[in-house]
Amino acid sequence: MDQNHLCYHYTTGQWNGESNAAHRHLQENFAMEQPAQLKQLLNASASVLALAPMQDVTDLSFWRLMAKYDGPDIYFTEYFRVHPDSRLEKPILRSLTENPTNRPTIAQMIGNHIPSLVRTARELQQHPLAAIDLNLGCPAPVVYKKHAGGGLLREPRKIDTILGALREAIKIPFTVKTRVGFDDPKVFDELLPIFARHSLDLLTVHGRTVMEGYRSAVHYDLIQRATETVPCPVLANGNVYSAAKAESVLADTGASGLMIGRGAIRNPWIFRQIRQQQNAEVPFVPTGQDVLAYVHDLFETTRPPGLREKLQVQKIKKYMNYIGLGIEPSGDFLRRIRSAQTEHEFFTICEDHLQHNQPMPLEPMDLDLKPVDVLAGEHR
Ligand SMILES: Cc1cc2nc3c(=O)[nH]c(=O)nc-3n(C[C@H](O)[C@H](O)[C@H](O)COP(=O)(O)O)c2cc1C
Repeated sequence: MDQNHLCYHYTTGQWNGESNAAHRHLQENFAMEQPAQLKQLLNASASVLALAPMQDVTDLSFWRLMAKYDGPDIYFTEYFRVHPDSRLEKPILRSLTENPTNRPTIAQMIGNHIPSLVRTARELQQHPLAAIDLNLGCPAPVVYKKHAGGGLLREPRKIDTILGALREAIKIPFTVKTRVGFDDPKVFDELLPIFARHSLDLLTVHGRTVMEGYRSAVHYDLIQRATETVPCPVLANGNVYSAAKAESVLADTGASGLMIGRGAIRNPWIFRQIRQQQNAEVPFVPTGQDVLAYVHDLFETTRPPGLREKLQVQKIKKYMNYIGLGIEPSGDFLRRIRSAQTEHEFFTICEDHLQHNQPMPLEPMDLDLKPVDVLAGEHR
């Protein structure tokens, strides 16, 4: 049966006019397309660019927005929490079933209960996705104290067992996103042979320990060690904020590609700029007006239907923490933004700073930040 003659409805999961058996067969084939696309990308000579998973940020609407700006090659979901009573969280699942990016998507799981992880991996494979990822890096105390996410990096043997069980259960590509240790990167030497043993399809390394949070220097040398040790492709992650930085991180680590998080919130053109730089073209430089248009886009795209103005103004401030780092160095912009209450006030402040056609800086500025700034909340 030829899938091209049929119409697949993402929202209903139905193929027009087909019997259930044929529907299932086709759905399986459809789901197989993304793994093949991912493998092709990982085997290609060009560096792979991935959008990092970011809880409460990289949802369906944010993916849609990134795709509009010539976004990454691969998209990760926010993490699915996995425990004995967990069910696939519907809003995250929608990112997979309605995938607006036309690119391979990877579903991330976080948890440590092996039967639940295996069950969830099997359920996820019923949906269109390229791969399943295990989170070994989340530094939120509420997560690591339960021995999940980054907390598991204290227990290499448990990781070994989890990876063994998941590798057996996952018939599509299986990937891991890790930090370099819990409080000491020495454990990375113990972790690498474990990652190497389980036939992973991709390893992403955020080059910090759990205790180093998000603001320390990144151990690019350890990412390089990973690229030399594990047989699968490695994505380098941490502080890639510009095409110039992307080039130096790729050169320093020998990684097959990059995963970018906060840099993409601040600068949605970053993926395009990196590709341009790699093709020896001059990277696109946004003007103040371009950034202003992006903020308008972000405001509208991330606004859930019916959300009250005041709540959307509060919501947008989360993204502005990152965008503000590229706007002016004194911190005045961010201070004013944080006090805005209405859409009018919010955009008046944005216009004061961005209503111009001057080029914007490509690197973020060195603002004097408080520890809670930029990573307010759980991800401190
Ligand atoms: C707001 C926020 C939420 C995050 N949520 C996740 C997550 O759900 N899963 C995960 O593996 N990492 C998560 N991270 C970590 C990022 O994926 C990434 O590893 C980290 O931000 C470093 O990359 P960057 O310097 O490019 O931002 C989160 C980071 C931030 C800032």
